[in-house]
Amino acid sequence: MTDTIILHRPDDLHLHLRDGAILSAVAGQSADFARAIIMPNLVPPVTKADAIAAYRARIEAACPAGMAFEPLMTLYLTDDTTPEDIDAIEGVAVAAKLYPAHATTNSASGVNDIEGLTPVLERMAERGILLLVHGEVTDHSVDIFDREAVFLERVLDPMRRRVPGLKVVLEHISSAVGVDYVKSAEAGLAGTITAHHLVIDRNDLLVGGIRPYNYCLPIVKRARDRVALVEAATGGDTRFFFGSDSAPHTDPKKLGPCGAAGCFTAPVSLPILAHVFEEADRLDTLDPFLSRNGARFYGLPEAETTITLERCAPYALDPIETPEGPIAVFDPGFALTWRLAPGA
Ligand code: NCD
Ligand code: ZN
Repeated sequence: MTDTIILHRPDDLHLHLRDGAILSAVAGQSADFARAIIMPNLVPPVTKADAIAAYRARIEAACPAGMAFEPLMTLYLTDDTTPEDIDAIEGVAVAAKLYPAHATTNSASGVNDIEGLTPVLERMAERGILLLVHGEVTDHSVDIFDREAVFLERVLDPMRRRVPGLKVVLEHISSAVGVDYVKSAEAGLAGTITAHHLVIDRNDLLVGGIRPYNYCLPIVKRARDRVALVEAATGGDTRFFFGSDSAPHTDPKKLGPCGAAGCFTAPVSLPILAHVFEEADRLDTLDPFLSRNGARFYGLPEAETTITLERCAPYALDPIETPEGPIAVFDPGFALTWRLAPGA
Protein backbone atom coordinates (compact mmCIF):
# COMPACT_ATOMS: atom_id res chain seq x y z
CA MET A 1 0.00 0.00 0.00
CA THR A 2 1.42 3.33 -1.06
CA ASP A 3 1.28 6.33 1.27
CA THR A 4 2.22 8.99 -1.26
CA ILE A 5 0.93 9.82 -4.71
CA ILE A 6 2.97 12.06 -7.00
CA LEU A 7 0.97 13.78 -9.73
CA HIS A 8 1.75 16.28 -12.42
CA ARG A 9 0.20 19.53 -11.29
CA PRO A 10 -3.44 18.88 -12.19
CA ASP A 11 -6.02 20.72 -14.28
CA ASP A 12 -9.61 21.35 -13.25
CA LEU A 13 -11.42 21.55 -16.56
CA HIS A 14 -14.73 22.88 -15.19
CA LEU A 15 -14.73 25.32 -12.28
CA HIS A 16 -17.10 27.99 -10.93
CA LEU A 17 -15.22 30.78 -9.14
CA ARG A 18 -18.14 33.28 -9.02
CA ASP A 19 -17.41 36.97 -8.48
CA GLY A 20 -17.03 39.62 -5.76
CA ALA A 21 -16.85 38.43 -2.15
CA ILE A 22 -17.43 34.76 -3.05
CA LEU A 23 -14.62 34.85 -5.62
CA SER A 24 -12.29 36.30 -2.99
CA ALA A 25 -13.31 33.58 -0.53
CA VAL A 26 -12.95 30.57 -2.88
CA ALA A 27 -10.16 31.45 -5.34
CA GLY A 28 -7.38 30.17 -3.07
CA GLN A 29 -9.14 26.81 -2.72
CA SER A 30 -7.96 25.83 -6.22
CA ALA A 31 -4.30 26.51 -5.44
CA ASP A 32 -3.29 22.85 -5.92
CA PHE A 33 -4.28 23.09 -9.59
CA ALA A 34 -2.12 24.44 -12.39
CA ARG A 35 -5.05 25.64 -14.46
CA ALA A 36 -8.82 25.62 -14.54
CA ILE A 37 -11.48 26.18 -17.15
CA ILE A 38 -13.55 28.98 -15.63
CA MET A 39 -17.30 28.90 -16.12
CA PRO A 40 -18.94 32.11 -17.37
CA ASN A 41 -22.35 31.83 -15.65
CA LEU A 42 -22.04 35.01 -13.63
CA VAL A 43 -24.85 37.52 -13.16
CA PRO A 44 -24.80 39.09 -15.74
CA PRO A 45 -23.21 36.30 -17.81
CA VAL A 46 -19.84 36.73 -19.51
CA THR A 47 -20.96 37.08 -23.12
CA LYS A 48 -18.29 39.31 -24.74
CA ALA A 49 -14.51 39.35 -25.09
CA ASP A 50 -14.04 42.50 -23.00
CA ALA A 51 -16.11 41.07 -20.14
CA ILE A 52 -13.98 37.90 -20.25
CA ALA A 53 -10.76 39.91 -19.98
CA ALA A 54 -12.16 41.94 -17.08
CA TYR A 55 -13.31 38.78 -15.27
CA ARG A 56 -9.91 37.19 -15.75
CA ALA A 57 -8.29 40.25 -14.16
CA ARG A 58 -10.65 40.01 -11.17
CA ILE A 59 -9.76 36.32 -10.74
CA GLU A 60 -6.04 37.07 -10.85
CA ALA A 61 -6.51 39.82 -8.26
CA ALA A 62 -8.47 37.44 -6.00
CA CYS A 63 -5.83 34.68 -6.02
CA PRO A 64 -3.60 34.78 -2.93
CA ALA A 65 -0.08 36.13 -3.55
CA GLY A 66 2.19 33.47 -4.98
CA MET A 67 -0.62 31.18 -6.17
CA ALA A 68 0.59 29.76 -9.50
CA PHE A 69 -2.73 29.27 -11.24
CA GLU A 70 -3.82 29.98 -14.78
CA PRO A 71 -7.51 30.70 -15.33
CA LEU A 72 -8.57 29.51 -18.78
CA MET A 73 -11.54 31.61 -19.79
CA THR A 74 -14.79 30.77 -21.57
CA LEU A 75 -17.55 32.64 -23.37
CA TYR A 76 -21.22 32.25 -22.39
CA LEU A 77 -23.26 31.52 -25.52
CA THR A 78 -26.69 33.15 -25.95
CA ASP A 79 -29.22 33.32 -28.79
CA ASP A 80 -27.56 36.63 -29.72
CA THR A 81 -23.95 35.40 -29.95
CA THR A 82 -22.49 36.09 -33.41
CA PRO A 83 -19.55 34.60 -35.35
CA GLU A 84 -17.84 37.97 -34.81
CA ASP A 85 -18.09 37.44 -31.04
CA ILE A 86 -16.10 34.25 -31.63
CA ASP A 87 -13.47 36.12 -33.66
CA ALA A 88 -13.13 38.58 -30.78
CA ILE A 89 -12.35 35.94 -28.15
CA GLU A 90 -9.32 34.53 -29.93
CA GLY A 91 -6.43 34.71 -27.47
CA VAL A 92 -8.86 35.64 -24.66
CA ALA A 93 -10.88 32.42 -24.24
CA VAL A 94 -10.24 28.79 -25.12
CA ALA A 95 -13.84 27.63 -25.23
CA ALA A 96 -17.47 28.68 -25.28
CA LYS A 97 -20.15 27.26 -23.02
CA LEU A 98 -23.56 26.13 -24.13
CA TYR A 99 -26.19 26.30 -21.40
CA PRO A 100 -29.62 25.36 -22.71
CA ALA A 101 -31.78 28.21 -21.37
CA HIS A 102 -32.96 27.50 -17.82
CA ALA A 103 -31.02 24.23 -17.51
CA THR A 104 -29.09 25.21 -14.37
CA THR A 105 -27.82 28.02 -12.12
CA ASN A 106 -27.66 31.38 -13.94
CA SER A 107 -28.60 29.94 -17.31
CA ALA A 108 -31.65 32.15 -18.00
CA SER A 109 -29.70 33.91 -20.78
CA GLY A 110 -28.62 30.58 -22.27
CA VAL A 111 -29.56 29.24 -25.67
CA ASN A 112 -33.14 28.52 -26.74
CA ASP A 113 -32.47 27.98 -30.45
CA ILE A 114 -29.51 25.62 -30.68
CA GLU A 115 -29.91 25.06 -34.43
CA GLY A 116 -29.81 28.83 -34.89
CA LEU A 117 -26.35 28.79 -33.32
CA THR A 118 -24.89 26.78 -36.22
CA PRO A 119 -22.93 29.68 -37.84
CA VAL A 120 -21.38 30.44 -34.44
CA LEU A 121 -20.42 26.79 -33.92
CA GLU A 122 -18.94 26.66 -37.42
CA ARG A 123 -16.78 29.68 -36.64
CA MET A 124 -15.67 28.02 -33.40
CA ALA A 125 -14.65 24.91 -35.35
CA GLU A 126 -12.64 27.07 -37.79
CA ARG A 127 -10.87 28.91 -34.98
CA GLY A 128 -10.23 25.90 -32.74
CA ILE A 129 -12.48 27.17 -29.93
CA LEU A 130 -13.94 24.22 -28.02
CA LEU A 131 -17.64 23.86 -27.27
CA LEU A 132 -18.44 22.95 -23.65
CA VAL A 133 -21.91 21.56 -23.22
CA HIS A 134 -24.29 21.43 -20.29
CA GLY A 135 -26.01 18.35 -21.65
CA GLU A 136 -29.57 18.45 -20.37
CA VAL A 137 -32.85 19.25 -22.09
CA THR A 138 -35.13 21.65 -20.27
CA ASP A 139 -38.45 20.40 -21.65
CA HIS A 140 -40.77 20.16 -18.66
CA SER A 141 -42.24 16.91 -19.93
CA VAL A 142 -38.85 15.16 -19.66
CA ASP A 143 -38.14 13.62 -16.27
CA ILE A 144 -35.12 15.21 -14.56
CA PHE A 145 -33.34 11.86 -14.36
CA ASP A 146 -33.65 11.39 -18.16
CA ARG A 147 -32.62 14.87 -19.23
CA GLU A 148 -29.02 13.98 -20.07
CA ALA A 149 -29.95 10.92 -22.15
CA VAL A 150 -32.62 12.82 -24.06
CA PHE A 151 -30.21 15.72 -24.72
CA LEU A 152 -27.65 13.40 -26.32
CA GLU A 153 -30.15 11.98 -28.75
CA ARG A 154 -32.25 15.06 -29.53
CA VAL A 155 -29.67 17.83 -29.37
CA LEU A 156 -26.01 16.85 -29.13
CA ASP A 157 -25.85 14.15 -31.75
CA PRO A 158 -27.62 16.20 -34.47
CA MET A 159 -25.47 19.22 -33.55
CA ARG A 160 -22.23 17.26 -33.87
CA ARG A 161 -23.37 16.01 -37.30
CA ARG A 162 -24.16 19.57 -38.43
CA VAL A 163 -20.70 20.82 -37.38
CA PRO A 164 -18.40 17.81 -37.65
CA GLY A 165 -15.16 19.77 -37.15
CA LEU A 166 -16.17 21.10 -33.74
CA LYS A 167 -14.37 19.82 -30.64
CA VAL A 168 -16.95 19.17 -27.96
CA VAL A 169 -16.70 18.46 -24.23
CA LEU A 170 -19.77 16.91 -22.64
CA GLU A 171 -19.49 18.43 -19.18
CA HIS A 172 -20.11 16.68 -15.86
CA ILE A 173 -21.32 13.38 -17.29
CA SER A 174 -23.81 11.88 -14.84
CA SER A 175 -25.11 8.68 -16.40
CA ALA A 176 -24.06 5.40 -17.97
CA VAL A 177 -25.74 6.62 -21.16
CA GLY A 178 -23.46 9.68 -21.14
CA VAL A 179 -20.38 7.50 -20.67
CA ASP A 180 -21.42 5.25 -23.56
CA TYR A 181 -22.13 8.23 -25.80
CA VAL A 182 -18.62 9.66 -25.30
CA LYS A 183 -17.11 6.23 -25.93
CA SER A 184 -19.13 5.79 -29.12
CA ALA A 185 -17.74 8.92 -30.77
CA GLU A 186 -14.94 8.46 -33.26
CA ALA A 187 -13.17 11.76 -32.58
CA GLY A 188 -13.69 15.30 -31.38
CA LEU A 189 -15.67 14.41 -28.27
CA ALA A 190 -14.56 14.11 -24.65
CA GLY A 191 -16.27 14.23 -21.28
CA THR A 192 -15.51 15.72 -17.89
CA ILE A 193 -16.36 13.86 -14.70
CA THR A 194 -16.73 15.47 -11.27
CA ALA A 195 -15.55 14.07 -7.94
CA HIS A 196 -19.04 14.14 -6.43
CA HIS A 197 -20.66 12.11 -9.22
CA LEU A 198 -18.10 9.39 -8.41
CA VAL A 199 -19.12 9.09 -4.76
CA ILE A 200 -22.84 9.82 -4.38
CA ASP A 201 -25.99 8.58 -6.06
CA ARG A 202 -29.63 9.59 -5.72
CA ASN A 203 -30.06 7.63 -2.50
CA ASP A 204 -27.50 9.97 -0.94
CA LEU A 205 -29.69 12.86 -2.06
CA LEU A 206 -33.11 11.56 -1.08
CA VAL A 207 -33.07 8.69 1.43
CA GLY A 208 -33.70 9.58 5.08
CA GLY A 209 -34.44 13.20 4.23
CA ILE A 210 -33.57 15.64 1.46
CA ARG A 211 -29.87 16.47 1.55
CA PRO A 212 -29.47 19.83 -0.16
CA TYR A 213 -25.68 19.74 -0.11
CA ASN A 214 -25.86 16.74 -2.45
CA TYR A 215 -28.09 18.56 -4.92
CA CYS A 216 -26.36 19.51 -8.13
CA LEU A 217 -27.10 19.51 -11.83
CA PRO A 218 -27.00 17.22 -13.65
CA ILE A 219 -28.72 15.50 -10.73
CA VAL A 220 -26.97 12.44 -9.30
CA LYS A 221 -28.54 9.28 -10.67
CA ARG A 222 -28.71 5.55 -9.94
CA ALA A 223 -25.98 3.50 -8.27
CA ARG A 224 -25.26 1.81 -11.60
CA ASP A 225 -24.66 5.21 -13.20
CA ARG A 226 -22.15 6.06 -10.49
CA VAL A 227 -20.39 2.73 -11.10
CA ALA A 228 -20.22 3.46 -14.85
CA LEU A 229 -18.68 6.86 -14.09
CA VAL A 230 -16.07 5.32 -11.78
CA GLU A 231 -15.18 2.82 -14.51
CA ALA A 232 -14.89 5.63 -17.07
CA ALA A 233 -12.76 7.86 -14.82
CA THR A 234 -10.42 5.12 -13.64
CA GLY A 235 -10.37 2.99 -16.79
CA GLY A 236 -7.58 4.83 -18.60
CA ASP A 237 -9.70 5.99 -21.58
CA THR A 238 -8.13 9.32 -22.58
CA ARG A 239 -11.49 10.82 -23.56
CA PHE A 240 -12.43 11.25 -19.89
CA PHE A 241 -10.84 13.86 -17.65
CA PHE A 242 -11.45 15.82 -14.49
CA GLY A 243 -13.73 18.83 -14.23
CA SER A 244 -14.73 19.44 -10.62
CA ASP A 245 -17.83 21.54 -11.35
CA SER A 246 -17.05 22.96 -7.91
CA ALA A 247 -20.02 25.30 -7.56
CA PRO A 248 -20.05 27.32 -4.33
CA HIS A 249 -23.36 28.58 -2.94
CA THR A 250 -23.82 30.06 0.53
CA ASP A 251 -26.00 28.25 3.06
CA PRO A 252 -28.83 30.78 2.68
CA LYS A 253 -28.98 29.89 -1.02
CA LYS A 254 -28.48 26.13 -0.58
CA LEU A 255 -30.85 25.57 2.31
CA GLY A 256 -33.90 27.65 1.36
CA PRO A 257 -37.24 26.29 0.13
CA CYS A 258 -35.81 26.33 -3.41
CA GLY A 259 -32.19 25.35 -2.80
CA ALA A 260 -29.54 26.17 -5.40
CA ALA A 261 -27.87 23.41 -7.43
CA GLY A 262 -24.14 22.92 -6.95
CA CYS A 263 -21.59 21.16 -4.73
CA PHE A 264 -18.55 23.04 -3.43
CA THR A 265 -15.80 20.48 -3.94
CA ALA A 266 -12.67 22.51 -4.74
CA PRO A 267 -10.98 21.94 -1.35
CA VAL A 268 -11.69 18.18 -1.30
CA SER A 269 -11.68 16.99 -4.89
CA LEU A 270 -8.08 15.68 -4.88
CA PRO A 271 -8.51 13.64 -1.65
CA ILE A 272 -11.83 12.28 -2.93
CA LEU A 273 -10.31 11.24 -6.25
CA ALA A 274 -7.34 9.58 -4.51
CA HIS A 275 -9.83 7.61 -2.39
CA VAL A 276 -11.91 6.55 -5.42
CA PHE A 277 -8.95 5.57 -7.61
CA GLU A 278 -7.33 3.66 -4.74
CA GLU A 279 -10.57 1.77 -4.07
CA ALA A 280 -10.75 0.86 -7.75
CA ASP A 281 -7.11 -0.26 -7.55
CA ARG A 282 -6.31 2.16 -10.40
CA LEU A 283 -4.02 4.77 -8.86
CA ASP A 284 -2.02 4.37 -12.08
CA THR A 285 -4.71 6.20 -14.06
CA LEU A 286 -5.16 9.11 -11.65
CA ASP A 287 -2.36 11.20 -13.19
CA PRO A 288 -3.67 10.98 -16.77
CA PHE A 289 -7.24 11.66 -15.60
CA LEU A 290 -6.14 14.76 -13.66
CA SER A 291 -3.17 16.07 -15.55
CA ARG A 292 -2.84 14.73 -19.07
CA ASN A 293 -6.05 13.76 -20.86
CA GLY A 294 -7.64 17.18 -20.58
CA ALA A 295 -4.52 19.10 -21.53
CA ARG A 296 -4.13 16.94 -24.64
CA PHE A 297 -7.75 17.35 -25.71
CA TYR A 298 -7.54 21.12 -25.22
CA GLY A 299 -4.12 21.30 -26.92
CA LEU A 300 -2.51 22.83 -23.82
CA PRO A 301 1.10 22.32 -22.77
CA GLU A 302 1.45 19.48 -20.29
CA ALA A 303 2.42 20.41 -16.74
CA GLU A 304 5.97 19.52 -15.80
CA THR A 305 5.94 20.31 -12.09
CA THR A 306 4.39 17.92 -9.59
CA ILE A 307 2.37 17.82 -6.40
CA THR A 308 2.43 15.09 -3.77
CA LEU A 309 -0.56 13.70 -1.90
CA GLU A 310 0.11 11.82 1.32
CA ARG A 311 -2.02 9.52 3.42
CA CYS A 312 -3.08 11.13 6.69
CA ALA A 313 -5.34 10.75 9.71
CA PRO A 314 -9.08 11.04 8.86
CA TYR A 315 -10.32 14.62 8.66
CA ALA A 316 -13.20 16.79 7.44
CA LEU A 317 -13.17 20.46 6.47
CA ASP A 318 -15.08 23.33 8.06
CA PRO A 319 -17.23 25.66 5.96
CA ILE A 320 -15.61 28.66 4.30
CA GLU A 321 -16.85 31.92 5.83
CA THR A 322 -17.93 34.72 3.48
CA PRO A 323 -19.71 38.04 4.06
CA GLU A 324 -22.77 36.47 2.40
CA GLY A 325 -22.82 33.43 4.69
CA PRO A 326 -20.91 30.18 5.09
CA ILE A 327 -20.20 27.86 2.16
CA ALA A 328 -20.20 24.23 3.24
CA VAL A 329 -17.52 22.00 1.76
CA PHE A 330 -18.94 18.90 0.03
CA ASP A 331 -19.02 15.84 2.31
CA PRO A 332 -18.33 12.65 0.32
CA GLY A 333 -19.80 10.45 3.05
CA PHE A 334 -16.44 9.11 4.20
CA ALA A 335 -13.55 10.64 6.11
CA LEU A 336 -10.82 12.10 3.94
CA THR A 337 -7.50 10.32 4.37
CA TRP A 338 -5.37 12.06 1.73
CA ARG A 339 -3.99 15.57 1.84
CA LEU A 340 -1.45 17.63 0.00
CA ALA A 341 1.98 16.90 1.47
CA PRO A 342 3.20 19.96 3.39
CA GLY A 343 5.59 21.96 1.26
CA ALA A 344 4.65 19.99 -1.87
C1 NCD B 1 -23.59 25.05 -11.31
C2 NCD B 1 -23.60 26.43 -10.65
O1 NCD B 1 -24.00 26.52 -9.49
O2 NCD B 1 -23.16 27.39 -11.27
N1 NCD B 1 -24.46 24.18 -10.57
C3 NCD B 1 -24.44 22.82 -10.59
O3 NCD B 1 -25.32 22.21 -9.97
N2 NCD B 1 -23.51 22.15 -11.22
C4 NCD B 1 -23.99 25.18 -12.75
C5 NCD B 1 -23.74 23.95 -13.57
O4 NCD B 1 -22.61 23.62 -13.89
O5 NCD B 1 -24.74 23.27 -13.92
ZN1 ZN C 1 -20.78 23.74 -13.68
